[in-house]
Amino acid sequence: MSIERIVVIGAGTMGNGIAQTAAVSGYKVSMTDVSQELLDRGKMLIDKSASKLASKGVIDEQQVALASAIETATDIEPSREADLVIEAATENPEVKFALFKELDQIAPKQAVLASNTSSISITRIAGATSRPEKVVGMHFFNPVPLMTLLEVIRGLDTSDATRDLVFEVGRKMGKEPVEAQDSPGFIANRILCPMINEAIFALQEGLGSAEDIDTIMKLGMSHPIGPLALADLIGLDVVLYIIEVMHRDFGDDKYRPARLLRQMVDASYLGRKTGKGFFEYS
Ligand code: CAA
Repeated sequence: MSIERIVVIGAGTMGNGIAQTAAVSGYKVSMTDVSQELLDRGKMLIDKSASKLASKGVIDEQQVALASAIETATDIEPSREADLVIEAATENPEVKFALFKELDQIAPKQAVLASNTSSISITRIAGATSRPEKVVGMHFFNPVPLMTLLEVIRGLDTSDATRDLVFEVGRKMGKEPVEAQDSPGFIANRILCPMINEAIFALQEGLGSAEDIDTIMKLGMSHPIGPLALADLIGLDVVLYIIEVMHRDFGDDKYRPARLLRQMVDASYLGRKTGKGFFEYS
Protein backbone atom coordinates (compact mmCIF):
# COMPACT_ATOMS: atom_id res chain seq x y z
CA MET A 1 0.00 0.00 0.00
CA SER A 2 1.35 3.45 -0.82
CA ILE A 3 0.48 6.54 1.19
CA GLU A 4 -0.58 9.66 -0.71
CA ARG A 5 -3.25 11.38 1.37
CA ILE A 6 -2.59 12.18 5.03
CA VAL A 7 -5.18 13.68 7.36
CA VAL A 8 -3.86 15.34 10.52
CA ILE A 9 -6.41 15.73 13.31
CA GLY A 10 -5.56 18.79 15.41
CA ALA A 11 -4.09 22.15 14.38
CA GLY A 12 -2.22 22.85 17.62
CA THR A 13 1.57 22.93 18.04
CA MET A 14 2.08 19.25 17.20
CA GLY A 15 -0.69 18.97 14.60
CA ASN A 16 0.36 21.98 12.54
CA GLY A 17 4.02 20.90 12.71
CA ILE A 18 3.14 17.38 11.51
CA ALA A 19 0.87 18.74 8.74
CA GLN A 20 3.59 21.13 7.55
CA THR A 21 6.31 18.48 7.53
CA ALA A 22 4.08 15.99 5.68
CA ALA A 23 3.05 18.59 3.08
CA VAL A 24 6.59 19.77 2.28
CA SER A 25 7.56 16.10 1.87
CA GLY A 26 5.06 15.74 -0.98
CA TYR A 27 2.00 14.26 0.75
CA LYS A 28 -1.46 15.65 0.06
CA VAL A 29 -2.47 16.90 3.50
CA SER A 30 -5.71 17.94 5.19
CA MET A 31 -5.62 19.37 8.70
CA THR A 32 -8.75 19.33 10.84
CA ASP A 33 -9.77 20.88 14.14
CA VAL A 34 -12.96 21.82 15.93
CA SER A 35 -13.02 25.51 14.94
CA GLN A 36 -12.01 27.69 12.00
CA GLU A 37 -10.17 29.97 14.41
CA LEU A 38 -7.85 27.13 15.51
CA LEU A 39 -7.30 26.13 11.87
CA ASP A 40 -6.47 29.72 10.86
CA ARG A 41 -3.96 29.98 13.70
CA GLY A 42 -2.40 26.64 12.70
CA LYS A 43 -2.14 27.73 9.06
CA MET A 44 -0.56 31.04 10.09
CA LEU A 45 2.09 29.21 12.15
CA ILE A 46 2.76 26.82 9.26
CA ASP A 47 3.31 29.72 6.85
CA LYS A 48 5.60 31.45 9.34
CA SER A 49 7.66 28.30 9.96
CA ALA A 50 7.88 27.40 6.24
CA SER A 51 9.04 30.95 5.36
CA LYS A 52 11.70 30.75 8.08
CA LEU A 53 12.95 27.39 6.78
CA ALA A 54 12.97 28.74 3.20
CA SER A 55 14.96 31.82 4.28
CA LYS A 56 17.62 29.40 5.58
CA GLY A 57 17.56 27.28 2.41
CA VAL A 58 16.22 24.22 4.27
CA ILE A 59 13.20 24.05 1.94
CA ASP A 60 12.55 25.70 -1.44
CA GLU A 61 9.74 28.00 -2.65
CA GLN A 62 7.86 25.06 -4.18
CA GLN A 63 7.76 23.40 -0.75
CA VAL A 64 6.57 26.66 0.85
CA ALA A 65 3.68 26.57 -1.66
CA LEU A 66 2.94 22.93 -0.72
CA ALA A 67 2.73 23.92 2.96
CA SER A 68 0.44 26.78 2.09
CA ALA A 69 -1.82 24.42 0.07
CA ILE A 70 -2.74 22.31 3.13
CA GLU A 71 -6.52 21.95 3.14
CA THR A 72 -8.50 22.45 6.34
CA ALA A 73 -11.83 21.23 7.72
CA THR A 74 -13.78 21.71 10.95
CA ASP A 75 -14.82 18.04 10.97
CA ILE A 76 -13.05 14.74 10.28
CA GLU A 77 -14.79 14.17 6.91
CA PRO A 78 -11.48 14.34 4.95
CA SER A 79 -10.60 11.03 6.69
CA ARG A 80 -12.99 9.30 4.27
CA GLU A 81 -10.26 9.57 1.62
CA ALA A 82 -7.21 9.18 3.85
CA ASP A 83 -4.48 6.57 3.43
CA LEU A 84 -3.07 7.60 6.81
CA VAL A 85 -4.67 9.57 9.63
CA ILE A 86 -2.34 11.10 12.23
CA GLU A 87 -4.25 12.15 15.31
CA ALA A 88 -2.72 15.02 17.32
CA ALA A 89 -5.82 16.11 19.23
CA THR A 90 -5.97 17.01 22.89
CA GLU A 91 -4.24 14.51 25.24
CA ASN A 92 -7.45 13.24 26.81
CA PRO A 93 -8.06 9.47 26.70
CA GLU A 94 -11.86 9.72 26.35
CA VAL A 95 -11.53 12.21 23.47
CA LYS A 96 -9.04 9.94 21.71
CA PHE A 97 -11.06 6.74 22.19
CA ALA A 98 -14.21 8.43 20.80
CA LEU A 99 -12.25 9.89 17.90
CA PHE A 100 -10.67 6.56 16.93
CA LYS A 101 -14.07 4.86 17.10
CA GLU A 102 -15.42 7.43 14.66
CA LEU A 103 -12.33 7.32 12.44
CA ASP A 104 -12.63 3.54 12.28
CA GLN A 105 -16.15 3.94 10.93
CA ILE A 106 -15.39 6.51 8.25
CA ALA A 107 -11.78 5.96 7.10
CA PRO A 108 -11.19 3.44 4.28
CA LYS A 109 -10.73 -0.11 5.60
CA GLN A 110 -7.10 -0.21 4.45
CA ALA A 111 -6.19 3.15 6.05
CA VAL A 112 -3.67 3.26 8.89
CA LEU A 113 -4.75 5.18 12.01
CA ALA A 114 -1.85 6.71 13.95
CA SER A 115 -1.78 8.69 17.18
CA ASN A 116 0.80 11.27 18.23
CA THR A 117 -0.05 10.59 21.88
CA SER A 118 2.84 11.07 24.30
CA SER A 119 1.42 8.92 27.08
CA ILE A 120 -1.81 7.07 26.28
CA SER A 121 -1.55 3.35 25.55
CA ILE A 122 -1.65 2.58 21.81
CA THR A 123 -3.15 -0.82 22.67
CA ARG A 124 -6.07 0.92 24.43
CA ILE A 125 -6.57 3.35 21.54
CA ALA A 126 -6.49 0.43 19.10
CA GLY A 127 -9.14 -1.28 21.25
CA ALA A 128 -11.61 1.43 20.24
CA THR A 129 -11.34 0.27 16.62
CA SER A 130 -12.04 -2.87 14.63
CA ARG A 131 -8.56 -2.68 13.00
CA PRO A 132 -6.01 -2.85 15.86
CA GLU A 133 -3.39 -4.22 13.44
CA LYS A 134 -3.55 -0.87 11.60
CA VAL A 135 -3.26 1.34 14.69
CA VAL A 136 0.17 2.65 15.67
CA GLY A 137 1.86 5.45 17.59
CA MET A 138 3.70 8.12 15.57
CA HIS A 139 5.21 10.29 18.29
CA PHE A 140 6.77 13.46 16.90
CA PHE A 141 8.83 16.00 18.84
CA ASN A 142 8.39 19.74 19.26
CA PRO A 143 9.20 21.73 17.14
CA VAL A 144 8.24 19.08 14.59
CA PRO A 145 9.84 20.74 11.53
CA LEU A 146 13.23 20.77 13.32
CA MET A 147 13.36 17.64 15.46
CA THR A 148 14.41 14.52 13.57
CA LEU A 149 13.16 11.79 15.93
CA LEU A 150 9.98 9.85 15.23
CA GLU A 151 9.18 7.39 18.04
CA VAL A 152 7.06 4.60 16.52
CA ILE A 153 4.99 2.74 19.10
CA ARG A 154 3.60 -0.71 18.50
CA GLY A 155 0.44 -1.70 20.29
CA LEU A 156 -0.14 -5.36 21.16
CA ASP A 157 -1.71 -6.05 17.75
CA THR A 158 0.11 -3.57 15.48
CA SER A 159 1.21 -5.53 12.41
CA ASP A 160 4.69 -5.58 10.87
CA ALA A 161 3.18 -4.11 7.69
CA THR A 162 1.80 -1.10 9.63
CA ARG A 163 5.10 -0.59 11.41
CA ASP A 164 7.01 -0.77 8.10
CA LEU A 165 4.59 1.65 6.45
CA VAL A 166 4.95 4.36 9.10
CA PHE A 167 8.74 3.92 9.12
CA GLU A 168 8.64 4.61 5.37
CA VAL A 169 6.39 7.67 5.81
CA GLY A 170 8.57 8.96 8.66
CA ARG A 171 11.73 8.63 6.55
CA LYS A 172 10.06 10.43 3.62
CA MET A 173 9.21 13.22 6.09
CA GLY A 174 12.92 13.49 6.89
CA LYS A 175 12.61 11.81 10.29
CA GLU A 176 14.61 9.00 11.85
CA PRO A 177 12.03 6.46 13.10
CA VAL A 178 12.88 4.44 16.20
CA GLU A 179 10.61 1.71 17.52
CA ALA A 180 9.40 1.60 21.13
CA GLN A 181 7.09 -0.83 22.89
CA ASP A 182 3.77 0.29 24.35
CA SER A 183 4.53 1.21 27.97
CA PRO A 184 3.72 4.40 29.95
CA GLY A 185 5.78 7.27 28.50
CA PHE A 186 7.16 4.86 25.85
CA ILE A 187 10.94 5.49 25.80
CA ALA A 188 11.36 9.23 25.21
CA ASN A 189 9.09 10.52 27.96
CA ARG A 190 10.02 7.66 30.32
CA ILE A 191 13.45 9.27 30.48
CA LEU A 192 12.71 12.94 29.72
CA CYS A 193 9.79 13.66 32.08
CA PRO A 194 11.44 12.33 35.28
CA MET A 195 14.49 14.49 34.40
CA ILE A 196 12.30 17.59 34.02
CA ASN A 197 10.37 16.71 37.20
CA GLU A 198 13.67 16.34 39.10
CA ALA A 199 14.80 19.77 37.85
CA ILE A 200 11.54 21.19 39.25
CA PHE A 201 12.20 19.46 42.59
CA ALA A 202 15.68 21.06 42.58
CA LEU A 203 14.10 24.48 42.01
CA GLN A 204 11.43 23.85 44.65
CA GLU A 205 14.10 22.88 47.19
CA GLY A 206 16.10 26.04 46.44
CA LEU A 207 19.17 24.19 45.16
CA GLY A 208 19.61 26.89 42.52
CA SER A 209 17.73 29.45 40.44
CA ALA A 210 15.87 28.39 37.28
CA GLU A 211 18.64 30.03 35.22
CA ASP A 212 21.38 28.19 37.14
CA ILE A 213 19.67 24.79 36.94
CA ASP A 214 19.28 25.17 33.17
CA THR A 215 22.82 26.48 32.72
CA ILE A 216 24.20 23.45 34.58
CA MET A 217 22.37 21.05 32.24
CA LYS A 218 23.28 23.04 29.09
CA LEU A 219 26.99 23.49 29.82
CA GLY A 220 27.58 20.30 31.78
CA MET A 221 25.52 17.92 29.69
CA SER A 222 25.50 19.68 26.30
CA HIS A 223 21.71 19.88 26.23
CA PRO A 224 20.51 22.48 23.66
CA ILE A 225 18.17 24.01 26.24
CA GLY A 226 17.81 23.39 29.96
CA PRO A 227 15.09 21.14 31.44
CA LEU A 228 13.03 24.06 32.79
CA ALA A 229 13.06 25.94 29.47
CA LEU A 230 12.18 22.65 27.78
CA ALA A 231 9.23 22.21 30.16
CA ASP A 232 8.08 25.69 29.13
CA LEU A 233 8.38 24.66 25.46
CA ILE A 234 6.43 21.41 25.93
CA GLY A 235 3.79 23.04 28.19
CA LEU A 236 3.73 22.48 31.95
CA ASP A 237 0.21 21.02 31.77
CA VAL A 238 1.47 18.40 29.29
CA VAL A 239 4.51 17.57 31.46
CA LEU A 240 2.26 17.20 34.53
CA TYR A 241 -0.19 15.03 32.62
CA ILE A 242 2.55 12.66 31.37
CA ILE A 243 4.24 12.31 34.76
CA GLU A 244 0.83 11.68 36.39
CA VAL A 245 0.11 8.89 33.89
CA MET A 246 3.50 7.32 34.65
CA HIS A 247 2.94 7.68 38.43
CA ARG A 248 -0.49 6.05 38.19
CA ASP A 249 0.33 3.32 35.66
CA PHE A 250 3.64 2.20 37.18
CA GLY A 251 2.33 2.69 40.74
CA ASP A 252 5.81 3.87 41.68
CA ASP A 253 6.34 7.02 43.77
CA LYS A 254 9.59 7.78 41.98
CA TYR A 255 7.32 9.36 39.35
CA ARG A 256 5.38 11.61 41.79
CA PRO A 257 5.02 15.11 40.35
CA ALA A 258 6.80 17.98 42.10
CA ARG A 259 4.41 20.16 44.13
CA LEU A 260 5.73 23.25 42.32
CA LEU A 261 4.77 21.74 38.95
CA ARG A 262 1.18 21.29 40.14
CA GLN A 263 1.09 24.82 41.54
CA MET A 264 2.39 26.32 38.28
CA VAL A 265 -0.34 24.48 36.35
CA ASP A 266 -3.01 25.54 38.89
CA ALA A 267 -1.88 29.14 38.43
CA SER A 268 -2.08 28.75 34.62
CA TYR A 269 1.67 29.33 34.23
CA LEU A 270 1.93 26.80 31.43
CA GLY A 271 5.12 28.00 29.72
CA ARG A 272 5.53 29.59 26.32
CA LYS A 273 1.90 29.23 25.35
CA THR A 274 0.74 31.46 28.24
CA GLY A 275 3.78 33.76 28.18
CA LYS A 276 4.98 32.59 31.61
CA GLY A 277 6.35 29.37 33.00
CA PHE A 278 9.72 28.97 34.69
CA PHE A 279 10.78 31.85 32.42
CA GLU A 280 8.87 34.76 30.88
CA TYR A 281 8.13 35.11 27.15
CA SER A 282 7.03 38.23 25.32
N1 CAA B 1 10.01 26.25 12.41
C1 CAA B 1 11.04 26.86 11.83
N2 CAA B 1 12.05 27.42 12.54
C2 CAA B 1 11.99 27.34 13.88
C3 CAA B 1 10.94 26.70 14.55
C4 CAA B 1 9.91 26.13 13.76
N3 CAA B 1 8.86 25.52 14.29
N4 CAA B 1 11.16 26.78 15.88
C5 CAA B 1 12.32 27.44 16.05
N5 CAA B 1 12.82 27.79 14.83
C6 CAA B 1 14.03 28.52 14.55
C7 CAA B 1 14.01 29.88 15.25
O1 CAA B 1 13.24 30.81 14.52
C8 CAA B 1 15.48 30.24 15.24
O2 CAA B 1 15.85 30.79 14.00
P1 CAA B 1 16.99 31.93 13.94
O3 CAA B 1 18.26 31.27 14.42
O4 CAA B 1 17.05 32.30 12.48
O5 CAA B 1 16.51 33.04 14.81
C9 CAA B 1 16.16 28.86 15.38
O6 CAA B 1 15.18 27.87 15.10
C10 CAA B 1 16.72 28.66 16.75
O7 CAA B 1 15.68 28.92 17.69
P2 CAA B 1 15.90 29.75 19.01
O8 CAA B 1 16.89 30.85 18.78
O9 CAA B 1 14.53 30.12 19.52
O10 CAA B 1 16.44 28.76 20.09
P3 CAA B 1 17.43 27.51 20.05
O11 CAA B 1 18.73 27.84 19.40
O12 CAA B 1 17.44 27.03 21.47
O13 CAA B 1 16.76 26.39 19.14
C11 CAA B 1 15.33 24.50 19.45
C12 CAA B 1 15.44 26.01 19.36
C13 CAA B 1 15.64 23.87 18.10
C14 CAA B 1 13.89 24.21 19.86
C15 CAA B 1 16.38 23.98 20.50
O14 CAA B 1 16.26 24.72 21.67
C16 CAA B 1 16.17 22.53 20.83
O15 CAA B 1 16.57 21.65 20.10
N6 CAA B 1 15.55 22.29 21.98
C17 CAA B 1 15.19 20.95 22.43
C18 CAA B 1 13.83 20.62 21.92
C19 CAA B 1 13.35 19.32 22.44
O16 CAA B 1 13.95 18.63 23.24
N7 CAA B 1 12.17 18.93 21.95
C20 CAA B 1 11.51 17.74 22.39
C21 CAA B 1 10.45 18.10 23.37
S1 CAA B 1 9.60 16.66 23.97
C22 CAA B 1 8.32 16.46 22.89
O17 CAA B 1 8.09 17.22 22.00
C23 CAA B 1 7.50 15.25 23.03
C24 CAA B 1 6.68 15.06 24.17
O18 CAA B 1 5.92 14.07 24.17
C25 CAA B 1 6.66 15.91 25.37
